[in-house]
Order: sequence, then C-alpha cells, then structure tokens
Amino acid sequence: MELKKAIIERRSVKKYDYEMYIDEEKLFSLVDLATYAPNHGMREPWRLVYINKKQIPEFAEKVAQSAFVNDPAKQEKYINKVTKVGGMFVILSKRDSRQKENLENQMAIGAFIQNLMLLIHDEGMGSCWKTPEFIFKPTFRKIVGVNDDEDVNGFLYVTEKDPSVNVMTRKNNSLITEW
Ligand SMILES: Cc1cc2nc3c(=O)[nH]c(=O)nc-3n(C[C@H](O)[C@H](O)[C@H](O)COP(=O)(O)O)c2cc1C
Repeated sequence: MELKKAIIERRSVKKYDYEMYIDEEKLFSLVDLATYAPNHGMREPWRLVYINKKQIPEFAEKVAQSAFVNDPAKQEKYINKVTKVGGMFVILSKRDSRQKENLENQMAIGAFIQNLMLLIHDEGMGSCWKTPEFIFKPTFRKIVGVNDDEDVNGFLYVTEKDPSVNVMTRKNNSLITEW
C-alpha cells in the first residue's frame, strides 16, 4: 500500500467483534519492523506485553477488579467490551531519570506505535491506542508485570478493520507559522 494513502486511511477502530482472530506470527513480525522507528541514542526504549484472545477474559477480569473497585456494573461493561478484541498489547517505555533522555524515549514510543499502527493497517487489520486512567494504578502494573523502571503508555488493541469508518480530514489551518 502506498505510504501516503496508508497515513490518510488508517483509523482507530473502536468497534470489536467476538470472532476476530489475529495472525500472531504476522503481527509479531510487524512489531519487529516497527522498531525501525527513530529513537535517540538507539536506546530502543519500548517493550510490549501481549495478551492473546484466549487470555483476554482472565486478564480483563483482573484488570476490571483493580480498575473499578466495588463497581460491578463498570467491571462487567469493561470485560464485555475487551473480550471482543482480537489481541492486545500493553505498551511500555523505559523510564530515564534524565529529563531530556526521558522526553526522547517518550517521543520514540509515539513514532514506534505509529509505525506499528500503519503496518497493521497495511496488513488489512485495525488497531486502537487506548490510555484509560487505570494504567497508572500500581495494581494494574502488577497484573501486567511492569518493571519499576518502565512507564505504561497504554494499550494497543488489535482488531479487524471497521469498514464503516471513513477518513477523517484534519483541520491543520494554521499548522505552520512563518518566522
Ligand atoms: C496517545 C493516544 C491515546 C489514545 N487513547 C485513546 C483512548 O483512551 N480511547 C480511545 O477511544 N481512543 C484513544 N486514542 C485514539 C484517538 O482518539 C484517535 O486517534 C482519534 O480519534 C483520531 O482518530 P484516528 O486514529 O482514527 O485518525 C488515542 C490515541 C493516541 C494517539
């Protein structure tokens, strides 16, 4: 697929189906390709934890209990939604105690994930980056197995494409100010 077309037509997919299964071998090869994202100092500050379709119900139950304490209705809603996803990554970045390096790491994560989302789109699948509030909870970090020197940058849900979603044009009227 042509790069310009892929950039314009990739969309975040927010509707999921129980029957969605992922070609994981293919998906993991796309992760390897996505690491060709620019990253200063070649620190490659990323790590992904993958939860496959079979594991999602157990994972979702644990996450729901930690995220929505004493709120069974919200827990159920969350579980019902995410069990429809084909597979999901938790996106982790290496924390650096130096301000500049930490900023560079965070920005490299953005480049890496955009690469991955474009590659997933190019292979005929869909994705959505999700940053729910609960990703900062120590209980969530424990469920995932996040290391002390890592930050959580959200989830990447991997799904089927949603054909009903159209290209969303950007405003970008005054993006560049001439000096
Ligand atoms: C860092 C980041 C975090 C996001 N978090 C969420 C989220 O928590 N929930 C959600 O529905 N979409 C989330 N999105 C998806 C955006 O809402 C989506 O990209 C936006 O609607 C533009 O649509 P498009 O990706 O289809 O072009 C996130 C996107 C980014 C880049």
